Amino acid sequence: MLRALFKSSAKQIALHIEGTDEEFDRIYPRNIRRISEQHFTPLNVAKTAASFLVSRPATRVLDIGSGAGKFCFVGAASTKGVFAGIEQREDLVNLSNSIARKLHIQNVRFIHTNVMGIALKEFDAFYLFNPFYENVKAGERIDDTVLVSPSLFASYSSYTRSQLSEMPEGTRLATYYTSPSFIPNDYRQVESSSDGHLLLWEKCLFNQKTRESQMAP
Ligand SMILES: C[S@@+](CC[C@H](N)C(=O)[O-])C[C@H]1O[C@@H](n2cnc3c(N)ncnc32)[C@H](O)[C@@H]1O
Repeated sequence: MLRALFKSSAKQIALHIEGTDEEFDRIYPRNIRRISEQHFTPLNVAKTAASFLVSRPATRVLDIGSGAGKFCFVGAASTKGVFAGIEQREDLVNLSNSIARKLHIQNVRFIHTNVMGIALKEFDAFYLFNPFYENVKAGERIDDTVLVSPSLFASYSSYTRSQLSEMPEGTRLATYYTSPSFIPNDYRQVESSSDGHLLLWEKCLFNQKTRESQMAP
């Protein structure tokens, strides 16, 4: 009991989700704080996206390209969802997992893998902050530890699109600063915020039927 109390207060004290991004980012070492504004989701955006994605308790949310874990940490602290992040940069995965352990954040985990190694069907809802853009825009790279190329952008986008299209009706997706080009047509945009940069989507059978009937002879 005492242990549980300690855990929850440690989480509240350590994660300043009601404060500023600068306060929140104190959980990170200086080199990560320096790149946070450009590469990681702002607090208010993460809270809005997470609250949309977690439509019921224990919803399994996947952040595709979780970086230093900021979106997952905010989601885990502000909703009743269970958050997972996949990330191709191993040092960021190790950092995220060590922060989760240190702060006793239980409903979050980080996996070192490329998106191509993940079956989206194991999750219920998805978050994307323009993860593959570094393959087509030089200034968007966190560092030079991974291989980048326009053909990888095409492969990652097309894999993600095809996996999303196999998800059941009602699947929720949130995208931030992400081109809708690889979002399947049967996802309907239900809301937008942050000057149109945060888009909230839901997979909708109606759109699919409409498209099928349009294609019928
Ligand atoms: C813009 S950052 C977003 C970080 C995090 N989602 C957030 O909002 O705080 C995109 C991340 O995606 C990761 N990434 C890019 N391509 C990936 C891939 N194919 N598989 C896994 N991670 C990838 C990058 O290493 C980077 O850390």
